[in-house]
Amino acid sequence: MADVTTRDITNDQHWMDFSREWAIRPDTLYLNHGSFGPPPRQVRYARRTWIDALDEQPMDFYLRCIEPAMHRARDATSSFVGTDTDNLVFVENATFGMNVVADHFPLTAGDEVLLNNHEYGAVQRIWQRACQRKGATMRLVDLPHRIESADQVVQSIISGVCDKTRLVVVSHITSPTALIMPVSKICEELRQRGVAVCVDGPHAPAQIDLNIDQLGCDFYTASCHKWLCGNLGSGFLVVAPKWHETVEPQLKSWGRLLPAMPEQWFEEFTWSGTRDPSGYLTVPDAIEFMESVGLQPFRDRTYWLADQARQRLMAEFGGTPLANPDDGWYGCMAHVPLPAGDWTDLQHRLWQVHGIEVPIIHFENEWFVRVSCHLYNNQLHLDTLVKALWCETR
Ligand SMILES: Cc1ncc(COP(=O)(O)O)c(C=O)c1O
Repeated sequence: MADVTTRDITNDQHWMDFSREWAIRPDTLYLNHGSFGPPPRQVRYARRTWIDALDEQPMDFYLRCIEPAMHRARDATSSFVGTDTDNLVFVENATFGMNVVADHFPLTAGDEVLLNNHEYGAVQRIWQRACQRKGATMRLVDLPHRIESADQVVQSIISGVCDKTRLVVVSHITSPTALIMPVSKICEELRQRGVAVCVDGPHAPAQIDLNIDQLGCDFYTASCHKWLCGNLGSGFLVVAPKWHETVEPQLKSWGRLLPAMPEQWFEEFTWSGTRDPSGYLTVPDAIEFMESVGLQPFRDRTYWLADQARQRLMAEFGGTPLANPDDGWYGCMAHVPLPAGDWTDLQHRLWQVHGIEVPIIHFENEWFVRVSCHLYNNQLHLDTLVKALWCETR
């Protein structure tokens, strides 16, 4: 294997050995790591080892192994994402974590929760329900259609804050538009106004540098089964110390393994009934895998590929991205406008006819293709996508 520091990000041959770490079905060209990121072999095997240990001696596993193993896994994960271990609990996914926050955040009649029009649809539904239950209101602000600067985005959000606003929910990297949001500045402004912030961050771990404590948010939810390449069903919720007393698991159980009883907030999340925790226990294996590649070489290569995707698609179809790619708005996902038309069936046809899995997104009356690039992707994949899109949109 070539030394990571000597790999040329523009040379597919230098990255071939990593693509062999994945067992993507041969009939599939996978350009959607951003939705469901398949794990590499060593992370899958690590899960099997835990499942075997569980199946072969459940008593030993649950009574004696699981607590120290969970603690080690929380430790490794929290230091990777920049927070204290006591602030982090594992949950199935970012959706689960967001629901925990929505069910416990103190809202009363008349309060408002503020989101923006780039937020994930399911997250909007979560907060709509939480607000309805408490007589509060969920409000959406629109960000400018073409984004000129981070300040403009921060100001758009701040302009939606009023004396009723209790919480702002904001993606770290947006789902329909793949934008890296200026979350640190947003948190700073909202802190000064006494408004809490919940960051929806499933695309952030590994894709960008993450130090949750430095962001200064109140809550951070994420999935490890995207860019970090954890096993499916591995996510986390980070809760700032001032909210520990407020946030509980939705599923009430023993909390810890008997005869121990939970004494600290995070211990309530250790035991929520008999279940398979192998997704959580293998997050450290995913971290180890990505660190063995090198986080910076990983980012350099996949940002470069995504940029190639953007350039090739724009050369073919024209159109302007929502924000200037040279200003750091995008990471490993290219988000490119498609020509005018109704592309409702395009995603389905790309799969049916060309074997390509890539999301086609309708956002604010425009159609876009969102291309995710991970270590198993290469320039041939991008050429194939461009040709397929060309055939399907003429
Ligand atoms: C911004 C954003 N938030 C939340 C989610 C939900 O993630 P999960 O399905 O892992 O809970 C997604 C999924 O793609 C997302 O893009």
